[in-house]
Amino acid sequence: MNLNIAIAGKGGTGKTTLSALLVRALREQGVRPILAVDADPNSNLADALGVEEGRHLADIREEGSSPEGSPASGVGRARAIEDEIQRAITEADGFDLVTMGRGEGPRCYCYVNNLLRRCLDMLARNYAAVIVDNEAGMEHLSRRTTNNVDYLIAVLNPTLPSLRAVRRILQLADQLPVNIAHKAVVVSRVGPQGLAGPIEGELAELEAQRLQNIPQDDTVEQAGAEGRSVFSIEETTPALVAVRSIAQTLCGKESAKSP
Ligand SMILES: Nc1ncnc2c1ncn2[C@@H]1O[C@H](COP(=O)(O)OP(=O)(O)OP(=O)(O)O)[C@@H](O)[C@H]1O
Ligand SMILES: [Mg+2]
Repeated sequence: MNLNIAIAGKGGTGKTTLSALLVRALREQGVRPILAVDADPNSNLADALGVEEGRHLADIREEGSSPEGSPASGVGRARAIEDEIQRAITEADGFDLVTMGRGEGPRCYCYVNNLLRRCLDMLARNYAAVIVDNEAGMEHLSRRTTNNVDYLIAVLNPTLPSLRAVRRILQLADQLPVNIAHKAVVVSRVGPQGLAGPIEGELAELEAQRLQNIPQDDTVEQAGAEGRSVFSIEETTPALVAVRSIAQTLCGKESAKSP
């Protein structure tokens, strides 16, 4: 299996939490090894996974040009960049983490960018699953530093503004130069009262597969506030239980069920 998952959504909706919980749930289900990609410069996926962040790939990118500013070339340079990418990977039990870091500045080092993309594509093939925690604007997807995507998961909270952001993301996804096999939505932080009628109505109109809701979960919130990883939370924590069900759907072990 080679499952490529991209997580997107408005700021603060729970993308990083879902990414980290998916790593835990997929690992439990025997999907190994997993590559977690932190593609949000302001993100904290390393904390959520309880591992040290490696060197940022964006730094490799910037160093990949010669002092005069023209891109270096040649097999030696390509190999050096591949080696640097390998060294930037943080290895953990059953999963690895790579951090993109801040994107390019105003100058485009096309040679290095292309190489970096090819290296990432090659790297992704070594993993049973790749989970990319994207920034709200999906810059990495639109710059095509991401491989083809099996599932684009747009995350929202039970509010109309975040639902409208998801609608925009799904529209933008159609214009991206990336093949997206499935578009899906996840409502996170759902309270005990469920979703309001207008939100359910608008969700039903989206052209995207509806995945299991993730409940508002104080254990998860507390772990985040204390900087603890998702591996520190109880097996039976409701948000983790919900993400297990999402993981099964993504692996094709279970048909999508209504939330
Ligand atoms: N199911 C949940 N129940 C309770 N709290 C949650 C849940 N999911 C996420 N949170 C909390 O919501 C906050 C935002 O979550 P998270 O960092 O995962 O969002 P994000 O979309 O990655 O944000 P950003 O856009 O800033 O990267 C965090 O404090 C997190 O602990
Ligand atoms: Mg985040």
